[in-house]
Amino acid sequence: MPSTMANGEESGRVELKNCIRNPGFDDADAAENTGSDPGERQESATVKLDTDEEYNQLQPYAGMPKEVLLLYSTRARYRVPREILFWLTVCCMLALLAVTITVIALSPRCLSWWQVSPVYQVYLRSFKDSDGDGVGDLRGIKEKLDHFLELHIKSVWISPFYRSPMKDFGYDVEDFQDVDPLFGSMKDLDDLLAEMHNKGLKLIMDFIPNHTSDRHRWFNLSRNRDPLYEDYYIWADCNVTSPKPNNWVSVFGNSSWTYDDFRGQCYLHQFLKEQPDLNLRNPRVRQEIIDIIHFWLAKGVDGFRMDAVKHILEASHLRDEPQVDPNKPPELITTEWDLYHDYTTSQVGLHDLLREFRAEMDVYSREPGNYRFMATESYDYQEVDKTMMYYGTPLLKESDFPFNFYLLDLPQNISGWWAKHLVDLWMTNMPRGKWPNWVVGNHDRSRISSSAGKIYIRAINMMLLTLPGTPTTYYGEEIGMENINITKSQMQDPAGKYNMSASRDPERSPMQWNGDMNAGFNNKTNITWLPVHPDYQTVNVEAQMKDEGSVLSQYRSLNRLRQSELPFQRGWFCYILADTNVFSYLRELDGHKRAYLMVINFGKQSATTDLSSIQELPADLKVLMSTNPVNDGKLFQKSRILTEPGEGLMMQYSTYTRFHPNHPAECFVSEKACYMETIDILYKC
Ligand code: GLC
Ligand code: MG
Repeated sequence: MPSTMANGEESGRVELKNCIRNPGFDDADAAENTGSDPGERQESATVKLDTDEEYNQLQPYAGMPKEVLLLYSTRARYRVPREILFWLTVCCMLALLAVTITVIALSPRCLSWWQVSPVYQVYLRSFKDSDGDGVGDLRGIKEKLDHFLELHIKSVWISPFYRSPMKDFGYDVEDFQDVDPLFGSMKDLDDLLAEMHNKGLKLIMDFIPNHTSDRHRWFNLSRNRDPLYEDYYIWADCNVTSPKPNNWVSVFGNSSWTYDDFRGQCYLHQFLKEQPDLNLRNPRVRQEIIDIIHFWLAKGVDGFRMDAVKHILEASHLRDEPQVDPNKPPELITTEWDLYHDYTTSQVGLHDLLREFRAEMDVYSREPGNYRFMATESYDYQEVDKTMMYYGTPLLKESDFPFNFYLLDLPQNISGWWAKHLVDLWMTNMPRGKWPNWVVGNHDRSRISSSAGKIYIRAINMMLLTLPGTPTTYYGEEIGMENINITKSQMQDPAGKYNMSASRDPERSPMQWNGDMNAGFNNKTNITWLPVHPDYQTVNVEAQMKDEGSVLSQYRSLNRLRQSELPFQRGWFCYILADTNVFSYLRELDGHKRAYLMVINFGKQSATTDLSSIQELPADLKVLMSTNPVNDGKLFQKSRILTEPGEGLMMQYSTYTRFHPNHPAECFVSEKACYMETIDILYKC
């Protein structure tokens, strides 16, 4: 072909000699147009189409030569449709772009992983012992990962596994970048993390920025006054016999100062004397903490639970703290309840530090789908606004949430109105736009099933999983595990050694997996670091999995519903009623037909609840789920809803009438969104 073209050009006109003709081509246009369009005729005159000779060679089609294409493409019957098509395509593209921009602009933010699933707390020593030494370990957790999947749980917080002399069971860290051999090796941790990620689970670590173990390398160097480490801890002048630098007391009791003969000074410890407080005013210490954060995040850990944060800074002036009872003789000031902690907790600068840590974490959060989560632990009791500070500000992020410990007080006064009061404490004080969370148990507090009473455990789980925000489940709560009784000789917790009633052993007993030896916690030897609860024959995972009406089965169903039903995830939460017995609230989402009414009896008596004054509710309500399975499917008139003590009812109803517009003071929403049923999407509203 190129040679043919060259010949044609040489002779000043285009000849199509050896071209192969398209057998499908019909030159009707040429015939038709002859004599009719002078412009086109002129153009075509430059091309000699010798159809008889060259075009007879009917070979497979090899495309039109450029000149033929140019010739025909300028004709109106080709050009016009082509232009129409072109502009149509442009319009479609623009329309598509506009739709995409609208969808992006109208879509609400997706919930992150830490919002979608409850956080399950594994107390490592007690969860599953794989090697038979009586203490739970990392391989043990790996063996039990399916348990989380069964429960529809995605986020798992594991208590400390750093190398530690175990004076406070891992909260006394000797090396922040190593795993204690009691719990396994770094390889076991890597394997566990990889397997968790394979299964779509997130691992949250405990992080302890306030103190180290007295066996930590830094502390040794500090005692030795190594110039670089001299100020890594809080030292003050004192000697063996002289009074302590001030009246400060440790959380575990007695003075928070201990004399160190080596250095000849006292060091501060807000917890055990084996847990010296770090001096976070020292920039080198802060950098060490940041390096540790990087170490674990680079490994792929998904977040941190920041331990004991309110204790991170102390007043440098070291003045005495005010006594709660000014008349008490100073020598009797020995417990944390004797003082107002004006100089040892929540000091100015604390939040700047946490926000600095947070910023370091956010660097890793930029990886798509790899948000790194931070929760803070601070018991501020009556000073709820201090707790709320850990949420940060709209411009300065801090933790995703500070743990909400208020529901731990439910047993103090168990009743409908008290439950509402505790819930409301959080909801009314939480800064706008933040995400709530709920804790009903942990390794530092008596199990709520024991302190509130076993009959309430299902109702408490039902409330936990239907309130807005992220629930926390301490291992065993999903099966209704209770505290164990501990004798003095069985006691392990250092906090209990000072004051037996403060021992945290009762809530740390081995997880009850089945009815076999050691409740399946350790099936190799007969050792368990704390006794197994005697009720393990009935209260265990295996037995409850088989029973559809068990605490475990209800936990699973509630959690499944929580994750699949939009009103629970991001709908409105509105108070309906609270009295001596009943706490009632609803969950609804704009545009979503299904809504849920909860009626939970935290009282001591059966109750008949009359909700006839609530016009937005339908006259009849059907029970989707009761904590007493006998009542599943039961129909109640809204004027007569019957509940027994410890019974919770979840009622599902269909309506487009919303409660919240008429009762804004009773309602809250986080991550607000509306639902468009016709196309099944959420949009900003
Ligand atoms: C936190 C932990 C607790 C520990 C203390 C000291 O409060 O939850 O178990 O003893 O910090 O690290
Ligand atoms: Mg072990």
